[in-house]
Amino acid sequence: MTAALHHFAEGATQARQLAEALGLPSHEIATRRFPDGEALVQVAPQPGTALLFRALDRPDAKLVELLLAASALRDSGAERVVLVAPYLAYMRQDIAFAPGQAVSQRVIGTLIAVTFDALVTVDPHLHRTPHLSLVAPGIPAINVSAAPTIAAALAGQVAPDTVLVGPDEESLPWVQAVAAPLGLHAIVGHKVRHGDRDVRIALPEDADLAGRPTLLVDDLISSGGTLLTCAELLRAAGASSVAAVATHCLASDEDLARLSAHGIAPVMATDTVPCASAAIAMASALAEAIRAAGLL
Ligand code: R5P
Repeated sequence: MTAALHHFAEGATQARQLAEALGLPSHEIATRRFPDGEALVQVAPQPGTALLFRALDRPDAKLVELLLAASALRDSGAERVVLVAPYLAYMRQDIAFAPGQAVSQRVIGTLIAVTFDALVTVDPHLHRTPHLSLVAPGIPAINVSAAPTIAAALAGQVAPDTVLVGPDEESLPWVQAVAAPLGLHAIVGHKVRHGDRDVRIALPEDADLAGRPTLLVDDLISSGGTLLTCAELLRAAGASSVAAVATHCLASDEDLARLSAHGIAPVMATDTVPCASAAIAMASALAEAIRAAGLL
């Protein structure tokens, strides 16, 4: 079956890298806004399989354009439309934490499942949901781990006495998956969130950090509050330096500058979301997963 990758203007670099890794042509989707704010989307005609690539950070307007693009691809001949969303939005609200709250993971997951033939994403924020297939029922749902790519990027870059630190118990799988291939020691803290920018964290009492470099590992950086709180604790415990790496960097330039001003350096991330820290390319891992799942 013929196949091509379709992408929007933002994220074009990452999309083209993936297309190249898959040996596919890539086409940029044209978008414009009517004066009242509605979107107009125009795709290149596509028989066979269309991979529709878009990271869903700041997702609301992007989601509508994505739905329009999927529909236009089918209208123009695509038999299969696969969503490749390196960052998947709305995964954190997997239950109603207070009466009346929308369970956005279920709403967006269902929308994806009825719109696309398959979903490919990287490290979705599924803390209480055991598998991505439960988010997008009835379609193949591929969860690509960024850990091997991050570990490969860090190899030879970190001192052997570096301690990898996850901010909370939920980060344990990521921290271990990055630490294990590098043979590094890993610990995780205990985190309680009191607000969007107010987190309290406790590190394990027996953590041996005096004089050692530390590397914070998390799935995402949003406000950066988690990293700031952790960094303070690590310095108080005698760490000689604090760096950070995350799969997804959603932080604003202002928030990244705050991390730097507090001595967290470097702050590294994969390129699932285009941002200043996004230097670790996920194209090879995504291409391998797409091929292995037989989506082409
Ligand atoms: C929480 O469960 C996540 O793993 C991250 O630690 C969190 O979302 C980071 O958010 P922020 O940067 O706003 O503290």
